[in-house]
Amino acid sequence: MPPKSLPPQEREMLLAAARKTLDRAYARYSNFRVGAAVLTESGEVFTGVNVENASYGLTNCAERSAIFTAVQQSKMPKLAIRAVAVVTADDVPCSPCGACRQVIFEFGHDAVVIFKGREGYLEMSIQDLLPHSFRLS
Ligand code: THU
Repeated sequence: MPPKSLPPQEREMLLAAARKTLDRAYARYSNFRVGAAVLTESGEVFTGVNVENASYGLTNCAERSAIFTAVQQSKMPKLAIRAVAVVTADDVPCSPCGACRQVIFEFGHDAVVIFKGREGYLEMSIQDLLPHSFRLS
C-alpha cells in the first residue's frame, strides 16, 4: 500500500517541530539526541525527546515520549495520529525502533512516519514499517 504522504508544508512544519525540541533530549549515556513530533488528525502537534536513565533499559525513545504527551494533552476525546517525524541532533539516519512502531500503530493505523534513511528523509506508512502488528482481538 503506498503511504498517504503529507503535503510538503506540513511535513516541513512537523520536522521543524521535532528539531526545535531536540535541545531537551536527555541523552547523557549515548549522546544520541532524538526529537519527535506527532501530528494528529485534528491538526494538533505534540513533541518529545529521548529520556535516558543510569539504568539503561528504562530509556524512553523520543517517539514514545511525544505520543504519551499527546495521549495526555490532546483536546480530542481519542488520540488519532496522522504523522510522526523523527530527527536527530547529528542529522544521522534514525528509523523508529520496534517498540515505537507498535505504539505508533496503536494510535494511527495509517500513520505516516518521516525519518532519515541512508539517502535523505523517507516517508513510510506504519503498516509497511510494522507488518503484522500486535493487536488484541
Ligand atoms: N532512540 C530514540 O529516541 N528513538 C528511536 O527510534 C531509536 C532510539 C534513542 C534511545 C536512546 O536514548 C538512544 O536513541 C540510543 O539508542
